[in-house]
Amino acid sequence: MRTFFNYCGGKTRLVKTLLPYLPNTFNDYYEPFLGSGALFLEMAHRGKLTGKSCFLSDLDTLLMTTWRAIQEDGHHVLALLKQHPDTWETWETSLKILNDTPDDCPFETAAAYIHVKGRSFGSILRRSKRSGHLNPSFNRSPSPLRFACIEQGIPLLQHSVHLFDCTFSAMHPKRGDVVFLDPPYLGTDMSLYNTAYSVYPQIINYCHALTRRGVHWLMTNSDCPEIREDFRDYAIVSLGSQVASFAQDKEGVRPRYGELLVLSPELGEGREFLAENKGF
Ligand SMILES: C[S@@+](CC[C@H](N)C(=O)[O-])C[C@H]1O[C@@H](n2cnc3c(N)ncnc32)[C@H](O)[C@@H]1O
Repeated sequence: MRTFFNYCGGKTRLVKTLLPYLPNTFNDYYEPFLGSGALFLEMAHRGKLTGKSCFLSDLDTLLMTTWRAIQEDGHHVLALLKQHPDTWETWETSLKILNDTPDDCPFETAAAYIHVKGRSFGSILRRSKRSGHLNPSFNRSPSPLRFACIEQGIPLLQHSVHLFDCTFSAMHPKRGDVVFLDPPYLGTDMSLYNTAYSVYPQIINYCHALTRRGVHWLMTNSDCPEIREDFRDYAIVSLGSQVASFAQDKEGVRPRYGELLVLSPELGEGREFLAENKGF
């Protein structure tokens, strides 16, 4: 199933690759770098999360306001979104709502967020360093806003889905739960996500702690020697390479980057690429 909006670093194209690595049985589901929630939505759509509690979170407050508004009254958000003709002027109005009054009405904020995101170049909402305001570029040839996907997603958020805006380490899964970690990749320009620091050093400790607690986890990241070294005790799968949608060099050529998947011991067990378990 498609996400509600395009997202920089979104995992839609990898969902079918990731699904076979998830365990058949588990307790609750966690996605602490939610973004557009590509894996969550696909799993929920396939009925793989029925009867489980889902804990979905992200540091981005506007993003989480949008998820909460869709959960609370997605049809209201859709109605607001459909109200405006989709022009540069209405895009400017939506951007003003996000910059001036994001806390006043969550439904308007959600509609404005989806509108601005959908019509911004590369779906990137960077903030100006000087004013702190969002200052994306208007995309003149974007794909259409995804009304049908939002409509389809509304029921998937109705049962035992808990949404939080917080940093990933504030989420505390328990033994037998599954956690999908999709952090900003090591080496990524953090201004893409409006955060000032790389979360990578904390992630290493977080993953080790999850392992000790008996939590099943899987993490996507960039394929680079540092990650292969830091996670050498875990199973690592190469996910091939992608063309970056968010960067280009002076000649307009988009760089390619490799991606990998790191698996917790139980998820990697029995697979031919299982690294030696050094004892956690
Ligand atoms: C690669 S994107 C996730 C994409 C998502 N899997 C999808 O399919 O759309 C990374 C996300 O991490 C969030 N993020 C960055 N730093 C964070 C932190 N310290 N804690 C939680 N989320 C964070 C960003 O806001 C962004 O939404």
